[in-house]
Amino acid sequence: MLNPKVQDALNAQINMELSAFYTYLSMSAYFTSENLLGIAAWMRHHADEEMVHAMKIYDFIHQRRGQVRLTALDGPKTSWSSAVEAVEDALHHEEKVTASIDRLVDLARQERDHASDSFLQWFVDEQVEEEAVVDEILQQLKRVADFPAGLFMLDRDLAAHGGEEEEAEAAE
Ligand code: FEO
Repeated sequence: MLNPKVQDALNAQINMELSAFYTYLSMSAYFTSENLLGIAAWMRHHADEEMVHAMKIYDFIHQRRGQVRLTALDGPKTSWSSAVEAVEDALHHEEKVTASIDRLVDLARQERDHASDSFLQWFVDEQVEEEAVVDEILQQLKRVADFPAGLFMLDRDLAAHGGEEEEAEAAE
């Protein structure tokens, strides 16, 4: 049986992961409208990963015979002044998710809910990777921000790299 306090926090985390999905999908739409199709594809892939995160928690709550309670999502931001600003927002979002996962681990330990603690370790590790990946793109974007040709090349590179990443994940 799932600890009620942990269950509430896990349900709140589902909302946060779905909000991340919605935010990154909105960013993907923004990049598509800017004709930066490589960054748009990379962001859409990232949005899909957030849905996977939400569903992992959804399935875990059910496995523990708990109750999933979905709540309303806030509408995401829909436009940014630049690619750098959008990816900065993505990094801030990831940092908030990391802090939320850390609080969840603290709660699981406080409640002596070892199963949830163990389950959440996957998310602790995932957040290290998520922040690193978003920060890498951000640093690259900052470097080429004032050079349209550089931005074009980075976009092309991300289009190719994003595709390879998806193929590698599909093969796992
Ligand atoms: Fe599921 Fe990017 O945090």
